Amino acid sequence: MVIRPALPADAPALAALGERLWRETYAGLIPAANLELHLAETFGPAQQSAELADPACRTLVLTGTSEPLGYALLRAARPATPSVPFERPLEVARFYLDRRLHGTGAALRLMEAVLALAGSEGHDGVWLQVWEQNPRARRFYAKAGFTEVGEATFRVGEQVDRDRVLARGLPIL
Ligand SMILES: CC(C)(COP(=O)(O)OP(=O)(O)OC[C@H]1O[C@@H](n2cnc3c(N)ncnc32)[C@H](O)[C@@H]1OP(=O)(O)O)[C@@H](O)C(=O)NCCC(=O)NCCS
Repeated sequence: MVIRPALPADAPALAALGERLWRETYAGLIPAANLELHLAETFGPAQQSAELADPACRTLVLTGTSEPLGYALLRAARPATPSVPFERPLEVARFYLDRRLHGTGAALRLMEAVLALAGSEGHDGVWLQVWEQNPRARRFYAKAGFTEVGEATFRVGEQVDRDRVLARGLPIL
């Protein structure tokens, strides 16, 4: 397993992976029409190329023997709530692993890489939004040291869901 920064040439593979993992995670939990609207807005070679070219974004990709099996999209963005207690926060905007890797410790390794990157770039904390109806992810983030600091909304197609906002501080280097 290798975790590395994504390159511009990774855009098509990241688009396919992002769409597949989003669909696997939420199909059956979100009305199909909203799911498809969100996928069309969010994933595609053009969207992931734009994310890779955005100086405010970082993507870490986790690969198996050859194919990408997980990724984290990070964004230096203004937090969703003022309760995020950092001066230089980094958002974990997406954090997705292939089902074959769930429960293997790979997610924790990817999160360690996220935290190391955030620290090395001078961020004093990371924050994220997680759907309140995603208990596995919420438990994982708690194990990774995140605590709940507020609530926010997240639009999926034409529906607006309630998310929990989680944060984890980093030592200032
Ligand atoms: C979220 C994700 C990265 C976590 O990685 P993981 O390898 O599955 O996490 P772990 O197995 O280390 O931890 C999950 C924990 O949730 C627990 N869990 C699983 N299902 C659960 C449920 N329905 N309710 C409560 N806890 C649950 C597991 O038992 C485990 O806790 P434990 O180690 O104390 O037993 C991974 O599941 C994933 O990629 N999911 C799909 C994408 C996703 O939801 N991303 C988050 C978007 S914000």
